[in-house]
Amino acid sequence: MHSRRHLVNIALIGFMGTGKTSVGRLVAEQLHYDYLDTDEMIQASTGRSITDIFTKDGEPAFRALEQKVVEELASRTNTVISTGGGLPVNPENLASLKTHALVVCLWSSPEKIWERVRHQSHRPLLHDENPQAKIRELLAARGPFYKQADVLLNTDVRSVREVAQQVIHQFRLEASGR
Ligand code: S3P
Repeated sequence: MHSRRHLVNIALIGFMGTGKTSVGRLVAEQLHYDYLDTDEMIQASTGRSITDIFTKDGEPAFRALEQKVVEELASRTNTVISTGGGLPVNPENLASLKTHALVVCLWSSPEKIWERVRHQSHRPLLHDENPQAKIRELLAARGPFYKQADVLLNTDVRSVREVAQQVIHQFRLEASGR
């Protein structure tokens, strides 16, 4: 199925608050891989926060920076990549990631996502009058994109450790050609 793909990395996609950062860090630690986060890469290259970019330059400017970072990732090996929640909405981003990485989507219910993000303030898209409605709306719109991942994992009832184990298991299956 993936015979022309050379899966040397793991990319985690999924909505804000589904556990991409915690799971990604643990998977990287266990595999002795590098860990990269697309938001952190954007912040490092611009010297600005994600909120500042959204507020002053707008979302399209942020998405352009995001796409540039995705292109840079194609030269990586042995890396676990955690991606911003809106990144797979651009089909070119997902297609690019799939050339070198096993793409795993972490999935959660809107209730669980709200529980995880409600006390955090660094996500401009949730600076909304009704953040819970915004979560539902974005989740519904993005569902079809997230579902294009190679593997879908629900993180509602699994611990970070369990999800990380699942990710590693799937990666080993794929890497061994199953
Ligand atoms: C976004 C998710 C954020 C960040 C930005 C936009 C989104 O990343 O890229 O605030 O569109 O869902 P996380 O998913 O890591 O929170």
